[in-house]
Amino acid sequence: MTEPVAFPQDRTCPYHPPTAYDALREARPLSRVSLFDGRNVWVVTAHSTARELLTDPRLSSDRTRPEFPMPTERFAQSRNRRVALLGLDDPAHHTQRRMLVPSFTLKRTAALRPRIQETVDRLLDAMERQGPPTELVSAFALPVPSMVICALLGVPYGDHDFFEEQSRRLLRGPTAADTQDARDQLEAYFGALIDRKQKDPGDGLLDELIHEQLREGTMDREELISLATILLVAGHETTANMISLGTFTLLHHPEQLAELRAEPTLMPAAVEELLRFLSIADGLLRVATEDIEVAGATIRADEGVVFSTSVINRDAGTFPEPDALDWHRSARHHVAFGFGIHQCLGQNLARAEMEIALLSLFDRLPGLRLAAPAEEIPFKAGDTIQGMLELPVTW
Ligand code: HEM
Repeated sequence: MTEPVAFPQDRTCPYHPPTAYDALREARPLSRVSLFDGRNVWVVTAHSTARELLTDPRLSSDRTRPEFPMPTERFAQSRNRRVALLGLDDPAHHTQRRMLVPSFTLKRTAALRPRIQETVDRLLDAMERQGPPTELVSAFALPVPSMVICALLGVPYGDHDFFEEQSRRLLRGPTAADTQDARDQLEAYFGALIDRKQKDPGDGLLDELIHEQLREGTMDREELISLATILLVAGHETTANMISLGTFTLLHHPEQLAELRAEPTLMPAAVEELLRFLSIADGLLRVATEDIEVAGATIRADEGVVFSTSVINRDAGTFPEPDALDWHRSARHHVAFGFGIHQCLGQNLARAEMEIALLSLFDRLPGLRLAAPAEEIPFKAGDTIQGMLELPVTW
């Protein structure tokens, strides 16, 4: 390739990688892209190279490093802010992650399933009572994970208008000032909530962390605030996008939807395939701390590395006929949740939410269909987590 492709770019179709990335697909296993600030960085595009590099300790997630690649001006302006967990390298990362893992095991998540089902049923009851048409993002896709993460953390759901709005501004701006202000507001909110909980404890993960880590001095207040912010934002924005974009994609693939309806036990495999196919977190970021020889290339110390999950998850060497949506393939080793030490902490929870939400939605509303022409329905820009901005439906 002569000119590096610009990264990130908007999708042309909400469920396919941007057509502008076709050149990257042809240039596997890695090539170069240019960021908004004109800087050129490596982009990893092959599945095996991605798994190799995502477990390489010479790639850092520390966003405060001056060479850390920033995908947008908005994120570049918050470069100096400490980001819990996601922005830490081992051993500091391991220390934080170890405290959280027990709350996100398969067993703990399985125990939450009845509560998730109850939440989903209540939201569907309300939709049926109100009758069609409905805007599915605000009526269903966002409240499901939002209510679940509130219950898990011990955050009052009554505050959801506030934190959903701040999460939106944090991830999507539109300006750098919006992103910074949203983070300030969320941190101030959690500071006040933690102070209240210290006097009047409740029963959520935040209460446990206050009790077990803050009081013991193994975590400080600032760290807990940063962690709570990450968990809340990561816990509802991502899954909400998978539910909205997953629904849109299913409605656009009637054969696969019919198969799923006829055989609901396919749902766990369908969720895995949707995660691969949609790759909503498209652009994991790292910076090299030392020279790394990989796939015949040398990534030099201080060079930026971007992982395009949408391109990696369409690697035909690993996923034959990668552009087809197929419940019968083995999709489980996709990198939609990342790989290595930062692999998504909430993946078991996200899978449970998606399975329950999609099964119940199509079961309760068999006539579900789009209430506007597909090409007129707005979806998110390429510089954030991918998903639908709105999803007008009827049944
Ligand atoms: C379908 C929904 C989701 C997707 C696609 C997703 C995707 C990801 C990805 C790609 C990463 C790795 C980032 C990197 O390596 O730089 C990640 C990390 C993380 N995710 Fe998720 N996520 C989802 C849902 C959730 C949920 C429900 C939670 C719940 C709290 C969550 C919490 C986290 C946390 C805390 C991390 C950081 C882990 C670490 O650094 O050790 N995510 N997620």
